[in-house]
Amino acid sequence: MARRKKIYEGKAKILFEGPEPGTIVQYFKDDATAFNAEKKAVLDGKGVLNNRLSEYFMTGLNQIGVPTHFIKSLNMREQLVRQVEIIPLEVIVRNYAAGTMSKRLGIDEGTQLPRPIVEYCYKDDSLGDPLVSEEHIAAFGWASQQDMDDILSLALRVNDFMSGVMFGVGIKLVDFKIEIGRVYEGDFQRLIVADEISPDSCRLWDIETGQKLDKDVFRRDLGSLTDAYTEVARRLGVMPKSSTPITKPTLIN
Ligand code: C5P
Repeated sequence: MARRKKIYEGKAKILFEGPEPGTIVQYFKDDATAFNAEKKAVLDGKGVLNNRLSEYFMTGLNQIGVPTHFIKSLNMREQLVRQVEIIPLEVIVRNYAAGTMSKRLGIDEGTQLPRPIVEYCYKDDSLGDPLVSEEHIAAFGWASQQDMDDILSLALRVNDFMSGVMFGVGIKLVDFKIEIGRVYEGDFQRLIVADEISPDSCRLWDIETGQKLDKDVFRRDLGSLTDAYTEVARRLGVMPKSSTPITKPTLIN
């Protein structure tokens, strides 16, 4: 196996130097974490499912003109993506109240919101990714006003796409989180969707039964997480091509 350099290891993914400048290989691990890594498990096959699902969503977004970092699938656990400068924000879009919004504002989970609501959290694990306002973002220089306009537009387009795709397979998109990266093209720069879009970063409820098909299954001990993700993949027709996950990567530091 070709040797390559590990750039970064996060909770669910490892990033390696890509074959060309400006590219990265993104490897999806089986590790599941919740509550800022207070709860952890290794769930066989989760990385394979998230790799395929993120590929599916990012490919669809690219095809409808929403730019993403996704270049191509490499194998069951890896994809080639563009190297970006990550904006230090978690961009959350909510269609129905759930999770921290329900807790914070005392709104019953599942209540439909009057319109999609976009929230920003400052990406810092040691602080628990605190909710911040556009005032904080501007004052601390995390993103410019132009960036914020572009981020809002990307987030709402991803929401429309994801809501429609999910609706088509009987699933309600309750909320999701995306990350945004900056790329430089000659004298220009632009923002694109980065990281991943998967059931780890979305809330997905079956429209008929309300059954949860996302990471809340793990967070709230509601059964098998991989069964839930497999059900999402099955409905979308993106089951992994083979049931044999590739072996762990060869690392060189
Ligand atoms: O926890 P909360 O209700 O704020 O999460 C909103 C949405 O953002 C959920 O879909 C959750 O999975 C996602 N999220 C995430 N990563 C985080 C925080 C939230 O993917 N660090």
